[in-house]
Order: sequence, then structure tokens, then C-alpha cells
Amino acid sequence: MQTQSFTTYLNGDFVSSDEAKISPLDRGFVLGDGVYEVLPVINGNIIHLTEHLQRLNASLSAIRMAPPHSEAEWIQILEALVKKNGGGNQWMYLQVTRGFDLIRSHEFPKEVRPTVFAISYPKVLDSKDTLRQGIKVMPVPDIRWKYCNIKTTARLAYVLMYQSAKEAGFNEGIIINNGVALEGCSSNIFLVREGILLTPPKSPAILPGITRDSILKLAKAEGIPYRETEILETDLYQADELWITSAIRGIFPVIEIAGRPVGTGKAGPLWERMWDIYMKSLGLQL
Ligand code: PDD
Repeated sequence: MQTQSFTTYLNGDFVSSDEAKISPLDRGFVLGDGVYEVLPVINGNIIHLTEHLQRLNASLSAIRMAPPHSEAEWIQILEALVKKNGGGNQWMYLQVTRGFDLIRSHEFPKEVRPTVFAISYPKVLDSKDTLRQGIKVMPVPDIRWKYCNIKTTARLAYVLMYQSAKEAGFNEGIIINNGVALEGCSSNIFLVREGILLTPPKSPAILPGITRDSILKLAKAEGIPYRETEILETDLYQADELWITSAIRGIFPVIEIAGRPVGTGKAGPLWERMWDIYMKSLGLQL
């Protein structure tokens, strides 16, 4: 029995997760026809909200949907949701689908009434000590489609790739296409080599991560040398440091790849520095 519930936002109303209902004929359910965002909330503040809303609009535009809300409307809705769920530190999910369609069809409905859904719930933030312990990753072959820059709810390829890494005892899979390392199953990747921070360039093969952009901006401001460049799978094994980044996980040091230590096998000095810079940029001392 479900004992816990959270407040959700569904098509104009705030409703308990126990009571939130949509039709099984929603195109998000039947076809995976929708887009989403995941946002961290720290001390009641939604982090990088403008950037997430910009990417949401880019995803909507890519699937030829109009934004259901203006930025001001979104802010009002999402800030109210955070408050209703008790403020503090939370995980927030929002999703927009092409809505209900009585007859399942690959054609867009004549009149689209999008389904807009959001939920947030409390989340304990990892301390720097916890993060420092690092994670283990393994390469996974790329089984995705060609528009990985769109944050679509059709996530089956990521689910299967991640599950294969998980079942092999790893915390994340690094997606490899023709010998090129692209990103994690739900994260971007950074590599440190001879003091230079490297990350794959933006392209349809990766999600343009909000955390990725933020780290590059901070590296520039702090005079840390960086390059957006192709990273080969073989480069991963020679890296001094390897990180994965996402809005939810922040910046996680990778200490092992496919059973081999990354660098010294411990979180590296640039990760230590960048974590502090990143936390400071969010106004935090963790
Ligand atoms: N995923 N690449 C992929 C494939 C992702 O799914 C994600 C995030 C990222 C990192 O993007 P950002 O820094 O904007 O979170 C990169 C979210 C967290 C998810 O699907 O749960």
C-alpha cells in the first residue's frame, strides 16, 4: 500500500499524487510522444530554472509543439509546487505530452491539448564526502535514435543501456558509438587530461546538459583550460580524471571504468576544485 503522497501539478490543478489521473489514451503513454525536464531544488530554489525552461522549449519546438506556458507562468506553477511539497531540497520532474487522442495514430491530432504534469518531492543532497567516494562506470553500445538532443519521454534505449550497466554492477553506462564516447545514460561526461578539461561538443548525439553548460561557463570564468572535443573510448582509459554530470547528481567523480581505475582511482584535484566552484555558484557550502 502506498503510504506517501506528494502534490503534483496536472493541467491547471494542484492535486495529490494519489488522485492525479490521465487517460491511458494520452499520446505520452501510448506513443512516448512528449518531452520532459528534471530539475534540482535546493533550499526551496529551483536551480537553473530559466535554462531548463529554454531547453524544454527547444525540445517542444523539435517535436513541433507550442509551449503550453510562458516562462512567467511556469515560474508561478513550479514555485507553488515546491512550496506545496514543503520547500527545502527536492527533485522536480515536469513533462509535456501531445495529449489525449481517442484513435491511436502516428499523425498529430487536429487539435492538440497538451498534458502538462509536474511533481516534486524531498531529496537528501549528497555531501562532498559521499560524492568523493566516486562511482564505477562501464561502456555500453549506443542503441539510440538520431535526435538525442531532444529530451523526449521515449527513454527505452536509455533504460536498456542503463539496466545492462546496473546488472553488471556499475553505477552508470557510458554510451559508445563507433569508438566515440558520447555521454552517460542520464549524464554528460567530462575528462581531465594533462590539466585540461574535455567534454564532447554539442551535437544531436548528446543531450545539451544544463550542468555541462554551467561547468564550462565556470571553467571559463575561473581560467581553467577546457576544450569541447571528440572523446574516444580509448581516451577514457587514459584519463587523469573522469566525471559524469547531471542536474540531479551534480558532478560525480568516476573512479573506475570497466574494472580499471581512472587516474589514481580516487576523486581527482580538478573535481575537488570544480565541485567547490559549482557549489559556490549555487550559493551553497556543502
Ligand atoms: N537526465 N545526458 C542524458 C542522456 C541525460 O538523460 C541527462 C539528464 C544529462 C544531463 O543533463 P542535465 O545536466 O541537464 O541534467 C545528459 C535527467 C537527470 C534524467 O533523465 O533523469
